[in-house]
Amino acid sequence: DKYAVIMAGGVGSRFWPVSRTAYPKQFQDMLGTGKSLLQQTFLRLNKIVPQDHIFILTNTDYVGLVTEQLPEVSGQQIIAEPAMRNTAPCILLSALKINKENPKAIMIVAPSDHWIEDEEAFAEDVNKAFEACFHKDLLVTLGITPTFPNTGYGYIKYDKDSEDHIKSVEKFTEKPDYASAQSFLKEGNYLWNAGIFIWKTSFIIEQFQNHLPDMFNLFKQAWSTLNTTDEEAFLKGNYPNSESISIDYGILEKAKRVGVIEASFDWSDLGTWGSLHDQLDKDAHDNVSINARSEFIDSSNNILRTTKGKIAIIKGLNDHIVLENEDILVILPKKDEQDIKTIRNLVMGKF
Ligand code: GDD
Ligand code: MG
Repeated sequence: DKYAVIMAGGVGSRFWPVSRTAYPKQFQDMLGTGKSLLQQTFLRLNKIVPQDHIFILTNTDYVGLVTEQLPEVSGQQIIAEPAMRNTAPCILLSALKINKENPKAIMIVAPSDHWIEDEEAFAEDVNKAFEACFHKDLLVTLGITPTFPNTGYGYIKYDKDSEDHIKSVEKFTEKPDYASAQSFLKEGNYLWNAGIFIWKTSFIIEQFQNHLPDMFNLFKQAWSTLNTTDEEAFLKGNYPNSESISIDYGILEKAKRVGVIEASFDWSDLGTWGSLHDQLDKDAHDNVSINARSEFIDSSNNILRTTKGKIAIIKGLNDHIVLENEDILVILPKKDEQDIKTIRNLVMGKF
């Protein structure tokens, strides 16, 4: 039986000041479509998995936002983490909960902050992965053809001679350094990890037992409380004691039976303003405006984002990011978009 788990616990600090700790990007309409990224992710997965089999993993602080944005989801489907411990512990917790409810369950784990254009192609790829996991014990990843040596992604080296639809993976490298990323691109048989995984709950639990035994033992003690009224108290007392590590470093880099499906859909990890700029409709001079009623004069290649309905006039400005979010205005060159995280930390204490 198919289940889905949406990870929606990140802070999205490279999208500050639009994405804030109190209101991170996955809860916002980053693309100006009228729906938040979380709502879009939910609808996309609901085409593959029944509504009551979709779980949302998030921090305790964001449960209110999830309930508000997904009123169709019941309280039991929202799994609240009392502390931020990265993706491995929350994935283990959700796998255990689902496995307890249905020992034969197969799950898809998906981030809440991606852009996927062709939802039918996405559903087709995922259904192929579900099918494969039904027959085999395999950790299936979705791979994207890399276009540049991005050091923010995981790299999947697949077996060149593998003729199956699901290629067998020789090596998984999370966030390599620049030189390694360059050599991976040159070698050719590498794909970017889209961060979307499909596996049997029983098989991923076994992987935690082998590769993250301390974490496994901590959560094993939760078993009798899972899906009962005692679960919350157990998590409150024990979840913060878990190691903080991502599924990529903790499991994927070490696991043996990993497979990859080359994605047949266009994908973007909406990681920075620049990646958002790539996905959105631009005017004749490559300006993008989100939420604003805007006028660009003698200006090119800018990203403008305001709170809803504001009038913005920009003249003689090129290659900049202009962000207005209620009480904060930020203007910086597009090429410095990675600095937003640092700038945020620098100014946070000042005002
Ligand atoms: N529930 C929960 N709890 N979700 C979390 C937590 C947490 O503690 N930490 C992060 N997330 C969510 C984020 O909101 C995001 O949707 C997803 O988990 C992935 O976390 P990121 O922090 O965005 O990971 P990344 O982008 O650095 O790397 C991952 O994604 C890349 C593709 O976008 C890795 O899987 C890479 O290998 C991959 O290439
Ligand atoms: Mg990410």
